[in-house]
Amino acid sequence: MTEKRVTFASKIGIVAAAAGSAVGLGNIWRFPSQTADSGGAIFILVYIGCILFFGIPLMMSEFIIGRGSRANSAGAFHKLAPGTPWKWVGRLGVLTGFVIMGFYMVVCGWTLDYMFQALTGSLHTVTDFSANFNNLLSSPLRQTGLMILFTLMTAFFILSGVKKGIEQSSKIMMPMLFLLLIILALRSVFLEGSSAGLAFLFRPDATHLNPTLFLDAMGQAFFSLSIGMGCMITYGSYFNNDTNFTQTAVQVSILDSLVAILAGIIIFPSAFALTSNPDTITDELVAGGPGLLFITLPELFNQMPLSVIWGSLFFCLLALAALTSTISLMEVVTLYIHEEYRFTRKKSTLLVTAGVILLGIGSSFSPWLFNLMDVASAKVMLPLGGLFISLFVGWYLDKRMVAAQITNDGTIKLGVGFLRVYIFLLRYIAPLAILAIFIYGLVG
Ligand code: PHE
Repeated sequence: MTEKRVTFASKIGIVAAAAGSAVGLGNIWRFPSQTADSGGAIFILVYIGCILFFGIPLMMSEFIIGRGSRANSAGAFHKLAPGTPWKWVGRLGVLTGFVIMGFYMVVCGWTLDYMFQALTGSLHTVTDFSANFNNLLSSPLRQTGLMILFTLMTAFFILSGVKKGIEQSSKIMMPMLFLLLIILALRSVFLEGSSAGLAFLFRPDATHLNPTLFLDAMGQAFFSLSIGMGCMITYGSYFNNDTNFTQTAVQVSILDSLVAILAGIIIFPSAFALTSNPDTITDELVAGGPGLLFITLPELFNQMPLSVIWGSLFFCLLALAALTSTISLMEVVTLYIHEEYRFTRKKSTLLVTAGVILLGIGSSFSPWLFNLMDVASAKVMLPLGGLFISLFVGWYLDKRMVAAQITNDGTIKLGVGFLRVYIFLLRYIAPLAILAIFIYGLVG
């Protein structure tokens, strides 16, 4: 095939697209519920450690594999390690993409539902927000319809082409979302009684440390940064030859973590401030888990003047942030089918869409399946993918190739020390730590 591969057009477009993939419901919906589950600040500390020690190096590794091969996530291993079993790592990633979409699209559907509720003004008149959310959860048909709508929207962007679809949308929406989150965070911390929420978020309590906390934090870091399944391999394959991997990975990780922490600053202070029974609030947070975002936030909006506008704006932007993530997920799987099985892009997209809708129907009707896909992807499949990716770049790939990719053939001056530390991280620290956390979390 001599068909020329498209690349992202501009530098800002590259960061925006990768950040668009990373920032999504993982930050705004999943991060707060995991934090609540795991006791707050201590979870966030471990999470940040995971971002630094595995997140950034692994994102760079995926970029190396992607641009080094200019192929889809499975084809990349095929090209760089022909005739070896490494291609299974790419295939595992494609499967992981499917599994993530299988439940993620359902949460995207919830977001659409809330967007409609906010736009029509009905969210504004709700008095019992838990009941309002449970209402949605107890209607699998409504969830299915919305999930299908969101999947079709994603497919539409995939079909409209890489540059136009992904790049343009991310560039406008991300900064808007960021600004809105800052406004909401400010509103939340100025509520009376919010300080207990801030303490929950920022004052670590070591008594909450336990084996599963590490696995939860690591899984969340992988999930949130979109690493461990080849998403950044696919995006890396579209990068220009002068894209700076280190800078891009650091920028994306900082942005992604900021959004997650902002989401925390929005949700926890308001949850503590607005509760009617402060004694049981910590238990409520744990029990509220997946509903936290959809229960606490509308309550916060109702504390603000012009609540209809804030609510509508927030859920529209959230749906768009989710869309840039689902686009990246669907792109991984679609490109794989398109390049490996030589189906047209259109046919590949249709196949993937049908598969995702089937899984989505399953998880709309079965909370058990929904949970299984969430846990399996974040706590098993992504960490395993990350483990293999670090071994692949650390041990298998030629070090000169790794250095050439990271320094863009020597044009970026990073120093030998940097490269040494990087390779050391990939060879020893990341794989051993991932393995240890994984085993400790499963048996502990
Ligand atoms: N990172 C995305 C989020 O936080 C989810 C995602 C995971 C996207 C893996 C692509 C790959 O919402």
